[in-house]
Amino acid sequence: MKHLLTTKELTRDEAELILDVTEQMAEAVTGREVPKLPALRGRTVVNLFFEDSTRTRTSFETAAKRLSADVVNFAAKTSSISKGESLRDTALTLQAMGADAVVIRHPAAGAPQRLTEWIDGAVLNAGDGTHAHPTQALLDAYTMKRRLGAIEGRTVAIVGDILHSRVARSNVWLLSKLGANVRLVGPPTLLPKDIDEWPVEVGYDLDASLKGVDAVMMLRVQRERMHAAFFPTANEYARLYGLDERRLRLLPDHAIVMHPGPMNRGMEIAATVADSPRATITEQVTNGVWVRMAVLYLLLTNGASR
Ligand code: CP
Repeated sequence: MKHLLTTKELTRDEAELILDVTEQMAEAVTGREVPKLPALRGRTVVNLFFEDSTRTRTSFETAAKRLSADVVNFAAKTSSISKGESLRDTALTLQAMGADAVVIRHPAAGAPQRLTEWIDGAVLNAGDGTHAHPTQALLDAYTMKRRLGAIEGRTVAIVGDILHSRVARSNVWLLSKLGANVRLVGPPTLLPKDIDEWPVEVGYDLDASLKGVDAVMMLRVQRERMHAAFFPTANEYARLYGLDERRLRLLPDHAIVMHPGPMNRGMEIAATVADSPRATITEQVTNGVWVRMAVLYLLLTNGASR
């Protein structure tokens, strides 16, 4: 594994290795007075973000710094890209500066793959269009493993705007590979046309689909990617597909509530549910740092070929 572009292309062994090293990273750093390891001293990690981000960008930055790497944050809005510079020329510039890893978020699906043609270092996909967000799925899987004890045999419902969700796609491939049963639930207009080819069950009735789940993952309604009316009103969406307190009571006692963030409180998830003890939303953010430490470590030290 030289790059991390999608979860679809990870083998089960590679995915399990990442989750194991994630656990080791968490154990190595938690409780230390200085939460840093020297593993990537002298290495340079570039954060190249063409789309807004709160969690992913800061999480990669924190992860790289905890491994003692040098971090360069490169925001497209304040770079020469705003003057028309191409992705290829930007990549060649980063290559000339000796980037060991480039973390890229881009609105176009496939942009991280293109970057691998121009960069000698590792490329890590931090979200490309509606295509993939592999580290989000890995941190979700790690959170489930910690909270539920295992992933094999567990049932996970992913609810809402599946059509526009790179998080849903990456979770489907990863969780099914790790032996989970994945249920996708949403309005027919927000499910992809090729869903029959995915390794999932599909449901349209949220109340029925919550029965027997171990985890429910609510997805953000991505209005910025919607160029048509996919549902009548926000209230109608919340009534049919929002996770409110009544629906929370339909879940088995041990089941957890997940959301990748950012959230539309009051739409796909009620504020009281997002803030309830059943929700793992901030824990997912914490776990994201360990996962990104593991991935950076494995890619930059050839640990993935262990
Ligand atoms: N979950 C996620 O990708 O969040 P950001 O857009 O804030 O990075």
